[in-house]
Amino acid sequence: MNILIQPLSEIGPYIADRVVRVAAAKPQALFAWTTGNTPLRTGIYQELIAREAQGQLDLSSSWFVNPDEQLGIPQAHEESYYTYMKRHFFDHIRHAEDRRFIPDGMTLDPLAECERMEQFIEAHGGIDYQLIGLGMNGHICFIEPAPALPARSFVTEIAEVNRELYAPLFGGVLADVPKQAITFGWGTVMKTRQISLVAVGAEKSDMIARALTGPITTEVPASLLQLHPNAEVVLDEAAAAGLLRAEEELTKRGISSGLKWERMQ
Ligand code: GLP
Repeated sequence: MNILIQPLSEIGPYIADRVVRVAAAKPQALFAWTTGNTPLRTGIYQELIAREAQGQLDLSSSWFVNPDEQLGIPQAHEESYYTYMKRHFFDHIRHAEDRRFIPDGMTLDPLAECERMEQFIEAHGGIDYQLIGLGMNGHICFIEPAPALPARSFVTEIAEVNRELYAPLFGGVLADVPKQAITFGWGTVMKTRQISLVAVGAEKSDMIARALTGPITTEVPASLLQLHPNAEVVLDEAAAAGLLRAEEELTKRGISSGLKWERMQ
């Protein structure tokens, strides 16, 4: 697994370069995006929008999927992932609206919605590139820590720790925070051809170290990325600090973490 440490300001351009390359090599590529603060703090979507405006990126023939959505809130809700994606990305970029799939949080049949998502992915040849963020509890997409994880997209209970974290976004009322979400399954992520996990800030540092140097366990869903043949992890210095300490510890004991490092100044 490749680890890239970059200044915060370089992460957006770096990810945009990757997206440009994937889209140029395969105009009909299927991209999977992520929500959360990380793409905004790193300027990933802003950079993609700028590249498109400058004519360096053409997503007009691409396909798009979002791996998760909270159940029980309509698309138009301020905090829906649908609204997030429109506001930060889709409203600013030329693309075909019928080529994107964001699960419907108000679906009457969430399991059927999961199946529709899997079929959308299969029908468009599988995911070529997925951008992933890291939840504070080690989740990716909405794959929460659990004793076992479904392979295909599924309905999950949102971990209480996350519901509490999201409460301020819902007027501080915990009861208003969705309790369930639709999310990719573990197999859905593993079948993606290329993955960039992006994490920034000191608050992600311990979890990054645990996920990448600790045992592979469904209790730390991000640790399963260690098994992916083509996943990279892009960090700023603050998020990398715990990993660097863990690597030093392992080196002292004569153990190799198997991680490949690259630091860009
Ligand atoms: C939410 C989303 C995840 C995302 C995560 C990280 O929980 N379901 O897909 O990766 O937030 O968020 P942040 O980047 O704000 O830390």
